[in-house]
Amino acid sequence: MTDAPTRLEQAQALSPDVYLGEDWHRFDQKNILSTGWQIVGPSAHVAQSGDHIVREIGGKPVLIVRNAQGRLNGFYNVCRHRAGPVALCDGKGAKRLRCAYHGWIYDLDGQLKITPQMDRAENFDPAALSLPPIDVAEWSGMVFARAGSGPGFDEIRADLDRVAPPACLDGIVYHHTRAYEVDANWKTYVDNYLEGYHVPVVHAGLNALIEYDVYDIELTRWASVQSSPMTDPDLYGTGEARYVFLYPNTMLNILPGRVQTNRVVAISDRKCVVEFSYYYRPGEEAKADRDDAFSEEVQGEDRMICERVQKGLESGAYTPGRLSPSQESAVWHFQNLLRRTYATAENQD
Ligand code: FES
Ligand SMILES: [Fe+2]
Repeated sequence: MTDAPTRLEQAQALSPDVYLGEDWHRFDQKNILSTGWQIVGPSAHVAQSGDHIVREIGGKPVLIVRNAQGRLNGFYNVCRHRAGPVALCDGKGAKRLRCAYHGWIYDLDGQLKITPQMDRAENFDPAALSLPPIDVAEWSGMVFARAGSGPGFDEIRADLDRVAPPACLDGIVYHHTRAYEVDANWKTYVDNYLEGYHVPVVHAGLNALIEYDVYDIELTRWASVQSSPMTDPDLYGTGEARYVFLYPNTMLNILPGRVQTNRVVAISDRKCVVEFSYYYRPGEEAKADRDDAFSEEVQGEDRMICERVQKGLESGAYTPGRLSPSQESAVWHFQNLLRRTYATAENQD
């Protein structure tokens, strides 16, 4: 179904087949999006004991909570009784976690503590039951998680430190989050993020702010970074823009004095939601309204082109095209990581 990874100079785009259909959507959710480390929120949301965030990772409900000793715990948000949600939404300062279905109660380490009206159940030992754990980690004031197995976060951290040097993120403070729906496969959105090739054609406003000619791309094992000098001291300040991608679905847009993070959440084969969170260095927050308006413009342009590309991929008229070695190496890198997973799955069939 998918071709083998190639050298950059011979690169061609991924088969359109993998951007379409419930089977590929389910495959991606299970084997790529569940198992990949991804940003799930700011550490500020889980700063104190009992603070928790509720998300889906690869379609699986998860819950991340700080315990009384300050450790961050991650669990499937799936009750050991009949799979109810242990938490319905983000919250602060919970003393315990009470399932929203029949009220079984867990402590902040996921241990089942109280089970109303279960006294006649034979051979039932609540002490033997706890919420299934997931992996969580913190990096530069952000929480990362995954719901599956794969490389440990140390390997991811090394790549992140390289493409997003901690000095760039020093002192940034979480500000707000927005979400955008895009009627396209999640990979269509990621492909588009990973090249600046389209910027002069699709984003007239953005193109005026960056020095496209000196766009630089660096690739690591799990991440890539596209960087470019900023030229508009009014809106973006002077300095460097770094567009960091962490496989499979996390992005960090690092601009002078602020950072936007994105997580691309696959909803169906033809729909994704992009969660945008904004962080500012103290004193820079006044730029938030203008940043929002400008992001809205750029995001609208990306949404339009991704939705059109999705139609093109679905048309039956498209066969994979060649990639630009100088402009699309990060697309090639992402698609080769996908190809490896797809090939592994095919070998298991
Ligand atoms: S499903 Fe959680 S208490 Fe019943
Ligand atoms: Fe774009």
